[in-house]
Amino acid sequence: ELGDYHHFMEKEIFEQPVSLENGMRGRFADDGSTAFFGGLNLTPQELRHVDRLLFIACGTAWHACLVAEYLIERYARIPVEVEYASEFRYRNAPLDKNTLVIAISQSGETIDTLAALREAKRKGYRTLSINNSVGSTIARESDGGIYQHAGPEIGVASTKAFTSQIMLCAMLALYLGRLRDLSYGDGVEIVKALKAMPEQIREVLRQNDKIAAIAKQYANYEDCLFLGRQLMFPIALEGALKLKEISYIHAEGYPAAEMKHGPIALISEQCPSVFLATSGEIFHKSLANIQEVKARKGKIICIATEDCDIPEDLIDDLVVVPECHEIVKPILMSIPVQLLSYHIALERGCDVDKPRNLAKSVTVE
Ligand code: M6R
Repeated sequence: ELGDYHHFMEKEIFEQPVSLENGMRGRFADDGSTAFFGGLNLTPQELRHVDRLLFIACGTAWHACLVAEYLIERYARIPVEVEYASEFRYRNAPLDKNTLVIAISQSGETIDTLAALREAKRKGYRTLSINNSVGSTIARESDGGIYQHAGPEIGVASTKAFTSQIMLCAMLALYLGRLRDLSYGDGVEIVKALKAMPEQIREVLRQNDKIAAIAKQYANYEDCLFLGRQLMFPIALEGALKLKEISYIHAEGYPAAEMKHGPIALISEQCPSVFLATSGEIFHKSLANIQEVKARKGKIICIATEDCDIPEDLIDDLVVVPECHEIVKPILMSIPVQLLSYHIALERGCDVDKPRNLAKSVTVE
């Protein structure tokens, strides 16, 4: 089953160009400006009456929800909230009456997510799910949904399921945006960017050896920070989760600007940082954050899009990702983050597919 790969995690990272193509297939409209989904069980008229979206999930899927929040608010201008399923369930949150609840779960069997979904349904909210397992409990119990079609994910650390969830949220942002104020031209740009993405992922995957060489130098640290702003903040959280679950290195993700409010105290020669930098309106502020870490002798691995001009003397290692539309940045930037964790864990002799204390599907509370 592994073919030429050594681990399922490695195989699943490399499958991403194809798993994402599979998730897109047949889901773009003929006019080339929007996406559509067969199983939402909601008409465009009904969707226009949705005033708010509430996303619920756990772990990596919760990080995908944070990306969804950013993309849907930006492109569809619908307010979005994101809750840990385990917290939402007991919080008894008052929700607006026209709230649509969306559960994201790779397995479709995570008990906390299922319980939160049931609680939302009990209160009479309309529910959707995004999941990767056809016929799973969450898929069956939600009123409608989107299947990921990413193929089975065996490695405990979620990789291809994560990028597929982000992609579907980007497509949902596009679809909801086109029902509202997103222009035809902007829609066309997004569709083109999504279609170009699998090839760009292949380009990033070709840097595997380079990333493995970088990983070698960082395998013996016991702490690591992942920093990013805006859309890169959830990817920083995901990078930290990936590293801690498979390599047992203590890692934390932060919005880079939060550093000065506390975490900067951790920076030393013993605590490297992974910076996720993309071009855009606040790029120069990310640079200032990198400088703050450098000034405290923290080692820096920078993962950046091609159009970022990062002064070489400011960082220790650089991985460059192709220039792309904003909507695909969180996907492209995830790939080096996954590879870095994978190679660091290998260097440390860890069982990457079956990390200690973890199960693939968490069916206990
Ligand atoms: O199957 P689900 O997407 O509901 O699983 C949620 C989390 O348990 C899962 O993402 C977990 O955090 C992974 N081990 C992350 O790699």
